[in-house]
Amino acid sequence: MQQRIKDILQQGQVGDRVTVKGWVRTKRELKECTFVNVNDGSTLAGLQVVIPNTVAAATPAIKDLTTGAAAEFSGELVPSPGKNQAIELHAQQIHLWGGADPETYPLQKKRHSFEFLRTIGHLRPRTNTLGAVMRVRNACAMAIHQFFQERGFLWVHTPIITASDCEGAGELFTVTTLDLAQPPKTPEGQIDFSQDFFGRRAYLTVSGQLEAEIMATAFTNVYTFGPTFRAENSNTSRHLAEFWMVEPEMAFCDLMGDMELAEAFLQFVFRYVLDHCPEEMAFFQERIDKSVMATAEQMASQPFARLSYTEAIQVLEKSGRAFEFPVAWGLDLQSEHERYLAEEYCQRPVIVYDYPAAIKAFYMRLNDDGKTVAAMDVLAPKIGEIIGGSQREERFDVLQQRIVSQGLDPAPYWWYLDLRRYGSVPHAGFGLGFERLVQFMTGMDNIRDVIPFPRTPGNAEF
Ligand code: 4AD
Ligand code: MG
Repeated sequence: MQQRIKDILQQGQVGDRVTVKGWVRTKRELKECTFVNVNDGSTLAGLQVVIPNTVAAATPAIKDLTTGAAAEFSGELVPSPGKNQAIELHAQQIHLWGGADPETYPLQKKRHSFEFLRTIGHLRPRTNTLGAVMRVRNACAMAIHQFFQERGFLWVHTPIITASDCEGAGELFTVTTLDLAQPPKTPEGQIDFSQDFFGRRAYLTVSGQLEAEIMATAFTNVYTFGPTFRAENSNTSRHLAEFWMVEPEMAFCDLMGDMELAEAFLQFVFRYVLDHCPEEMAFFQERIDKSVMATAEQMASQPFARLSYTEAIQVLEKSGRAFEFPVAWGLDLQSEHERYLAEEYCQRPVIVYDYPAAIKAFYMRLNDDGKTVAAMDVLAPKIGEIIGGSQREERFDVLQQRIVSQGLDPAPYWWYLDLRRYGSVPHAGFGLGFERLVQFMTGMDNIRDVIPFPRTPGNAEF
């Protein structure tokens, strides 16, 4: 079997015979030999291949080993005189799988802007930065599963096509099977979308929470990890129309337990990535953000700050800052407020809890003050909200009343209300924006650069 370059770099011994396959990053022709750096995506550094002139002379394809070409090299590992690696591959056999015309191949050896790379989304995974991001993303996913699996949580698969609006915010993409050339019409002459999904309305899910609650009231502790969708026209560096969310849901759990889990969870994921991706984290530290390592270390080891929403408003009011958006009890926190709290006031992640009921979703449990709900958001420096969660309203009458008072139609929530009729228990959960986590972990500025195929308003090409 083909050997991964990462494994060869870590475990290869001088004298080992190896075959590697990958894409050429650079080629340097010297008098007595040619140096090629080849990378298969398993590592940042790539493997240095030395092609002696005798081998080059017997390999006509060598001229096509240009940046971007796919090739295979067999030979023996030798000590490397270079300072960047201990070993290199002395090639004896070379096979060119597919060339890459240097006149047109867009990824030449220079730094390209992230904006430019987004226009060549089919090739950008071959860059150092996207490569490092994707490996960290993969490690985060593994850490998440390990964290929950070790604690006995069941991974449940919630649907992407759904009839309910979990957040009640109307940010839903409609799923349609209608022939829009000849759509059915309402008596008023409008397109009749009620027939959307083979005869009923359906949407892309904004969150798996409601279904996760079904599963938590059968399996106690569960989590989801899958794509979610928001039809909001937000062109910011932290919003996507399609993003991945991790949503644990726990029966017999209150807001305090929810906050404790969120903190332990993030600490675990940061520690895991520090342990498993040292090469990538060092790269981000050097190239992207000088503080990523310190931030990750802090996330992995220190407790988060906690502030009630009411305290947070007082802090903001006393800050003396001229914020762009107004600050007053009852108004939602904007990104600038969230960042002030985390970055400047607390100088670490902060959990803000007990938000006003009027600005939060219908399912959050009403507190005894009748004004606030048992909600919590984890706010991270530079990003703002990374996790949003709550204790859920488990009392049938209160829930029904909340649905109605938020102007929602209770009918589609009949089964959700049923869960409060049969074996209802206090339960709680949260949603982590997976891309915001990866953004925070890597220090990348733009959320579009931490997902392989970003979906933002007007962008769906690749
Ligand atoms: O705060 P949100 O809207 O909460 C929920 O959806 C709950 N149902 C979760 C739960 O309790 N199970 O979203 C949760 C997280 C946010 O904190 C944010 O990190 C991320 O999802 N998020 C987005 N990430 C990228 N692009 C967007 N448009 C996002 N909207 C939310
Ligand atoms: Mg939220």
